Amino acid sequence: MNKKIRADFPVLEHVIYLDSAATSLTPEPVVEAVAGYYREYNANVGRGVYRLSQLATQNYKEAHQKVAEFIGAKHEGEVIFTKNTTEAINMAANGLAWQRGDEVVTTLLEHHSNFLPWFKAHEKGVNLRIVKPDLDGVFEVADFEAAISDSTRLVAVTHISNVLGTISPIKELATVCNEKGALLLVDAAQSAPHIRIDVAELGCDFIAFSGHKMLGPTGTGVLWVKEPDKMEPTLFGGGMIKEVAVDGYELAAGYERFEAGTPNIAGGIGLGRAVDYLEDVGMDVLGTYEERLAKRLMDGLQELENVHVYGSTKPSERIGVVSFNIVGMNPHDVALQLDKDSDIAVRSGHHCCMPLMNYLGLKDGTVRVSLYLYNTEEEVDKFLVSVETIAKK
Ligand code: ALA
Repeated sequence: MNKKIRADFPVLEHVIYLDSAATSLTPEPVVEAVAGYYREYNANVGRGVYRLSQLATQNYKEAHQKVAEFIGAKHEGEVIFTKNTTEAINMAANGLAWQRGDEVVTTLLEHHSNFLPWFKAHEKGVNLRIVKPDLDGVFEVADFEAAISDSTRLVAVTHISNVLGTISPIKELATVCNEKGALLLVDAAQSAPHIRIDVAELGCDFIAFSGHKMLGPTGTGVLWVKEPDKMEPTLFGGGMIKEVAVDGYELAAGYERFEAGTPNIAGGIGLGRAVDYLEDVGMDVLGTYEERLAKRLMDGLQELENVHVYGSTKPSERIGVVSFNIVGMNPHDVALQLDKDSDIAVRSGHHCCMPLMNYLGLKDGTVRVSLYLYNTEEEVDKFLVSVETIAKK
């Protein structure tokens, strides 16, 4: 990636940022878009006839349109802005009318945000089935075929593991779900920032992701719903209705029905700008660049003594989210050392995936490195030298 991109992330002058799976850095044009709203047309949306409010409403709607185009959705009404992936998945879990005996199939690879909402549904009488990946984080589609029954209402699965970086076979799962009449919800928190998402091609019914992991502001996320009119809103109040009387109400159509109250207007507009930024770079260009960095990182880590790397090593089965441990060291100590010695920022611990950590027998978790378009080969090399030094001590 060129110098111009690096210049959009001034913090990179002081730090080697390798924690984009937790939250990405925010480029200057996105910061400007957020500031521009506050400086130039700060007004509420969908509530004022005056020009300032009309401008804010138009830009907020355009942000939904940009995200819709980015993921291949038919209409911006299918794109609901949320505060993050967690809220998006909870919205789907709470917005479906569950019947006692309905079944949800999820997996051991999930982040807590695609696990706990289904636990709560379980408390309402929904049965839960959990599919295990192998120890490298790779699924067999046959295991889903075996787990999905006539009672399965929904399958909830991560597109890319936030711990192991492994890619799930979503298209194949969509075919199975389709055959069995089950809905498919995809947690795309770790995929939408890195690979081109096309909801029609994936064949899912819901997709959830975070704006703040794809160059957008914090407090932004997305739930795309194939048939929004079939889902109940979970928040009720201003802005989400057509009519209200003392004895009833009629809901608004599209995303508005799910975004009750004043939304995160600046954040949403910033997310739209982030999508423009990614489109300007090109998701294919970004993907090829990150594949090269990820290979360098994986190859380098695997060569180090006393370092254990987790997850599939096949480039076709993973992206640049890599977990590892140094033998005999707690992952937090490794992360602290990297920060102190070399200004390198990585995440350590269980990564909000305790069931997976237990399954892998990693009670203290792992150190996780995660790459993005602004990282360079030089940074990867510096990181590898730092890990090698710590592992030798
Ligand atoms: N879900 C984010 C992560 O994996 C916070 O780090």
